[in-house]
Amino acid sequence: MKLPLFEPFKIKMTEPVYTSTREEREKWIREASYNVFNLRSQQVIIDLLTDSGTGAMSDRQWSALMLGDESYAGASSYYNLKQAVTDLTGFPWILPAHQGRAAENILFSVLVREGDIVPGNSHFDTTKGHIEFRKAIPVDCTVDIASDISSWYPFKGNVDLVKLEEVLKNNPHEKISCIIVTITNNTAGGQPVSMENLRGVRKLADKYGIKLFLDSARFAENAWFIKTREDGYAGREIREIVREMFSYADGMTMSAKKDAIVNMGGFTAYKDEDLFRKAVAFNIIYEGYITYGGMSGRDMNALAEGLYEGTDQEYLRSRISQVSYLGSKLKEYGIPVLEPFGGHAIFIDALKFLSAVPREEFPAQVLLSEIYIEGGVRGAEIGTLMADRDPVTRENRFPVNEFVRLALPRRVYTNNHIDYVAAIVANVHERKDLIKRGFRIRNEAPILRHFTIELDRI
Ligand code: F0G
Repeated sequence: MKLPLFEPFKIKMTEPVYTSTREEREKWIREASYNVFNLRSQQVIIDLLTDSGTGAMSDRQWSALMLGDESYAGASSYYNLKQAVTDLTGFPWILPAHQGRAAENILFSVLVREGDIVPGNSHFDTTKGHIEFRKAIPVDCTVDIASDISSWYPFKGNVDLVKLEEVLKNNPHEKISCIIVTITNNTAGGQPVSMENLRGVRKLADKYGIKLFLDSARFAENAWFIKTREDGYAGREIREIVREMFSYADGMTMSAKKDAIVNMGGFTAYKDEDLFRKAVAFNIIYEGYITYGGMSGRDMNALAEGLYEGTDQEYLRSRISQVSYLGSKLKEYGIPVLEPFGGHAIFIDALKFLSAVPREEFPAQVLLSEIYIEGGVRGAEIGTLMADRDPVTRENRFPVNEFVRLALPRRVYTNNHIDYVAAIVANVHERKDLIKRGFRIRNEAPILRHFTIELDRI
């Protein structure tokens, strides 16, 4: 008999799951103005809002915390982190930051000026936010097939090299800050970028003399997909693949809260000393001195260990299998989901699921709230609310797809939890034809509105 896969860890500490009634959840989501960010965690049964900072640390990470060196300057924990980053990526220059968006702030403080252009595959919302906040323009050059939900293409996170070259060719050199490639491409559905594509982007970067940075939050999951989907990589070690991916970049921003399985942390890393020196000044102003930059020593120690655990092949196999287990279950129940399944999350197609709800009434947010009411499962909207308004016209930006993202925290839930989630979504699907109206906005912020938006039911 073929043996089933099992998680390469066992559980030493547990945390209660809080249950609730449908009546309670209806009241809570109304009080939350139909914004799931306003719910208290104890009002949520299974929390798939994000895979960011929600993973379970290992016994080795917890013991690394106890060895943290809290010296202001020259802490051994910084050198542990630096060694782990250099070992995995090859970048010799690193600056800790308290999380991914802080890392973006440092890099963009060096590189991005008003009126600049920053091409790449789909920029994550904080990346986009940091660029637009500087009155610069992020240009999404993701391959078109990424928005075709049902076509199977192994690397839907890829940059369309023709689109990228158009941007590089048709704009003044000094207006292009850098190229940012996000691995995996979260906004496009946790979809990977192939090695071949990274090589192609590097070639264009060289041709036009532009620097290339990787937004690396889920770099290890990206490496897993290269290993399992790209010709020539099946026999390669994950860490060799990681090293090759980063060899094509001039540096990286990292939200360590994802693939490095820590609850808080991040960094920037650079190939060149010159750029690092420029970044140091901003790091000191915004984050802290070079050797701690927004992190405590203990957290840098746990992060150094997490970088190795997050790139362990057997861990990645179980991680990606669990996400695909959820995707397969949903598919079995007839739920329209983005395929191939992403690395960190399953994306449900809200336009297809709730076809009666008008686009202007935010179907993904409606589905999100119905899934919460049905069974206390919290996901996230990756749709019109997250896309924000156009900075110039102030009109809603309607992305091609409206998704509900169910992101799986690392090493936290069992497949029984996953079965429950799939059943809840299936129950909403059974009553989908009764859901016809959505929300109107009562209050919204000018940028990154989805975090704090307040909605009324129509
Ligand atoms: N880049 C990517 C690709 C991300 O997914 C995130 C965060 C960030 C940068 C910012 O990092 O949160 O540490 O400041 N993504 C989370 C998510 C929030 O739910 O997808 P951060």
